[in-house]
Amino acid sequence: MSPTHDFPLLPPGFRFGTSTASYQVEGAVAEDGRGPSIWDTFAAEPGRIADGSSGEVACDHYHRVDEDVALMKELGTGGYRFSIAWPRIQPTGRGPANEKGLAFYDRLIDTLLDNGQQPMVTLYHWDLPQALEDDGGWLNRDTVDRFADYAAIVGERFADRVEHWIPVNEPNVASVLGYGMGTHAPGKALLFDCLPAAHHLLLAHGRAAIELRNAGAQSIGCANNHAPIWPASDDDADVGMSKIFDALWNGMFLEPMLLGRYPADLVPLFDEITHDGDLATIRQPLDFYGVNYYNPMKVAAAGEDSEVPFEFLDVVGYPTTDFGWPIVPDALREWLVMFRARFRAALPPIYITESGCSYNTGPDEFGVVDDQARIDYLRSHVNAVSEAITRGVDVRGYYCWSLMDNFEWAEGYTQRFGLVHVDYDTLERTRKNSFHWYADLIAAQPQHL
Ligand code: NOJ
Repeated sequence: MSPTHDFPLLPPGFRFGTSTASYQVEGAVAEDGRGPSIWDTFAAEPGRIADGSSGEVACDHYHRVDEDVALMKELGTGGYRFSIAWPRIQPTGRGPANEKGLAFYDRLIDTLLDNGQQPMVTLYHWDLPQALEDDGGWLNRDTVDRFADYAAIVGERFADRVEHWIPVNEPNVASVLGYGMGTHAPGKALLFDCLPAAHHLLLAHGRAAIELRNAGAQSIGCANNHAPIWPASDDDADVGMSKIFDALWNGMFLEPMLLGRYPADLVPLFDEITHDGDLATIRQPLDFYGVNYYNPMKVAAAGEDSEVPFEFLDVVGYPTTDFGWPIVPDALREWLVMFRARFRAALPPIYITESGCSYNTGPDEFGVVDDQARIDYLRSHVNAVSEAITRGVDVRGYYCWSLMDNFEWAEGYTQRFGLVHVDYDTLERTRKNSFHWYADLIAAQPQHL
């Protein structure tokens, strides 16, 4: 049997890519006029990052664009998702553009295009200029105006060469972990008082989409983290709470973007935050809908002395990654099928803008990184996408998180998601077995046969 028979086959034209984000890979945090971001500040605070590290050097991608794009070319991907660091473009989040910052992304985009990689560009993957946080960050509505200015600058400069745009990466994680729980920058644990940050990030999505469109951008979407929410039991309290948490984690972002309204259960929470016209601004026409999928979550009603009304339980009965995240590819397929069934005409084509797993396998004595578990993960998740397509869901692409091991936020360098292993002492890149597998998967697709 030919080995190609082992690979899920996707429709002709289906896009395979890889994803990264500026603070996680670039390093060079003080170079060419970049200003500090909330993640530089947060990482410098003792106890915030598991291994006490920061993105100061990260993968040194800033100085290794040629080498990293060569890896993509070797993979045979057709697209690369990366983010622009706002503090490289406007070091304090306002005012004129920093030409050296723009020049870096010019060079990255041109190198990508020269090597057959269509850019998918995120404007905000969490590295807010610290100066804006000093004025209240995403809790302050003025930050939305600043973001619109920034979007206009990058749109004008790059819209002629960027295939897909994503204004904000995972607004749920940025608001809930950053301003609600305090486990991400800027480290504020405001619980439900984080909701203005969520609203302003949604508004930032809408305002940036308008600016990008005005600048000539052809394809504008989003990258929302979606997790199927499973009730911990069929007890009424758990089922009810899992529905509310689903509204908070999933609905609170997708309903405003697609339908121009907050989920019914949450409307009272947003009464005082929402101004007239905001929901119409948030609901911009989208050319694609990006889904970042990792795993389902299990939710129970919390005891009375808990600060929040829900609690999270382990999803048992499934294998887990080195991060402890359950591996449930069926949940991706079912989520996509449900998503289409619920939103139908309101739903543009879908891209999986992130999917991947953390395994910390390193090189053996021969330099081989035998990460079979990642291959199994990727195979089963690409397969889930393929099955969803068979059931009528219009999925156009799969971007693997991540091209290379990188700075995994509060986990520092302790969780490795890459197809390429990075030695953080030498910055040497080593192709993992999953890298070769992903290349073979891509080569086996119909357009290559
Ligand atoms: C989603 C985030 O967008 C990305 O930055 C992160 O590294 C992955 N999840 C894995 O946690």
